[in-house]
Amino acid sequence: MQEPRGSAATVDPDPTLEMAREVAEGLARQPKQIPAKYLYDPLGSQLFEAICKLPWYNITRAERNLLAAHAPAILPAAGGCDTVVELGGGSGDKLSVLLSAADGRALDVHLVDISAAALAQSERTLATHGSVALHSHLADYEAGLRGALRLRRPDGRALVLFLGSNIGNLSPGEADGFLLELRGACRPGDRLLLGADLVKPESELLLAYDDPLGLTAVFNKNVLARLNRELDADFDLYEYDHRVVWNADASRIEVYLESRSDQLVCVRGAGCCIRIDEYERIWTESSYKYEPAGIVEMGERAGFATREQWVEPEARFALTLFESER
Ligand code: AVI
Repeated sequence: MQEPRGSAATVDPDPTLEMAREVAEGLARQPKQIPAKYLYDPLGSQLFEAICKLPWYNITRAERNLLAAHAPAILPAAGGCDTVVELGGGSGDKLSVLLSAADGRALDVHLVDISAAALAQSERTLATHGSVALHSHLADYEAGLRGALRLRRPDGRALVLFLGSNIGNLSPGEADGFLLELRGACRPGDRLLLGADLVKPESELLLAYDDPLGLTAVFNKNVLARLNRELDADFDLYEYDHRVVWNADASRIEVYLESRSDQLVCVRGAGCCIRIDEYERIWTESSYKYEPAGIVEMGERAGFATREQWVEPEARFALTLFESER
């Protein structure tokens, strides 16, 4: 069974055609799927920012605290790091925390995101850091990273930030492939800071992805509104329920939209009509959870050397600093 792809997939030159193809493919699978990256239209990105503020979703707060506590070690004054690349940074808040420790040092900062709204928000957040030259890349992670590193100074060092447990939205195979590609784009001395959420009690995980305010449910259903708008689909949003499952064997949260009735849905822009049975689920997202040692192994499998790991024990979240030696 193949699962919904995270946001590491290549963005086609014509994004609507690419979306039509991927949605048609996903809905033809068993179980039906919609790629998770389509959750992030402008409204979806804002809903996600709101989720980050929920008391039951601790990833953002835990990571921010770790960044504030360890910024001098992550972005050392010595060591020649003159370029920072953030992949999928959302609002730019966390990068701002890190840059506060840069003490006015001149830095080239590259923001990579598939959401124009998120990029615009990051630019606004980071505008206060006067010594920073900002470059935005509206692109998927791989293309954006390549574009950013192409622009770097010949002898400088880069720090790549992949935070917020975005790695968790990739399957293990995708994560390995992505880190391998990232390492291949690095020079000796370049660093990767990886933020990843850890395994914790099931009740906490379920609350984080099925919050009592229903915000995550809205975030999830919004993908259907997007398909209605952008692919001329006719999903009835009242006919779906948000469902969340902890799959302990795969160490992942699985997020679904469950149909309340037997339905025929047409996605005209993708050239398909599908039957959806009562209680049938459309898989919209996976969020993998790790053990600290597993994160180290994942980075080292890609050829990175581990420099440091900081764990937030309450929320159970880890920041791991890797270095490319080749
Ligand atoms: C962006 N990503 C790391 C979030 C996560 O926790 O997997 C997306 C999310 N989905 C529902 N809540 C948050």
